[in-house]
Amino acid sequence: MTLRRDRTSITPMGSRRIEPTEFRNVLGHLPTGVVVLAGTTTRGPVGMAANSITSVSLDPPLIAVCAARTSSTWPLIQREQRFCVSVLASHHEQVSRKFARSGTDRFAGVRWHHRATGPALDDAIAWLDCELVAEHDAGDHTIAVARVVDLASAQDGRALVFFRGQYGRFVPADLDQPRRENA
Ligand SMILES: Cc1cc2nc3c(=O)[nH]c(=O)nc-3n(C[C@H](O)[C@H](O)[C@H](O)COP(=O)(O)O)c2cc1C
Repeated sequence: MTLRRDRTSITPMGSRRIEPTEFRNVLGHLPTGVVVLAGTTTRGPVGMAANSITSVSLDPPLIAVCAARTSSTWPLIQREQRFCVSVLASHHEQVSRKFARSGTDRFAGVRWHHRATGPALDDAIAWLDCELVAEHDAGDHTIAVARVVDLASAQDGRALVFFRGQYGRFVPADLDQPRRENA
């Protein structure tokens, strides 16, 4: 089934208004990884933290990420039509905070290198080189769809996890349980 009409601006009748804070709190129960989206501009590297990223299509390889309309960094990345995604490692909490903070040089003190599409954090656990192929209006965000043109991952490394507004790290369940003898 193809949804042809954009119904995002329609106010549903008979349903209660959901406040943004409640929406954020409830959706925060879905754990996510965190990435840095970064592009190269004429004024140097720009980047922002994001957790709304997902894979969309295997063939062609597509991802989607949602950027807030209020973001000042996304339009700079969008203008270049390409960006690099660095998937943050478990020790990257401060990096994530830094890439969400305004009025600071986000790349200062961060080790990074150039990949084909933009700046990549040296000690991330995976990297995606992306070319923007479409943007869709979605409420107060825009859904950016990008084709992955190259990618790589680290041999080891654990992901940074964001859950209910807090940072944590991924631990496989079998390492998290106390060992049960003769179970
Ligand atoms: C864990 C985390 C996840 C975030 N996810 C997103 C996201 O998916 N989309 C988005 O637009 N902003 C997201 N942000 C917020 C942006 O990083 C931040 O608001 C933005 O970079 C503000 O600066 P700007 O005006 O330079 O864009 C996230 C922030 C954090 C800390």
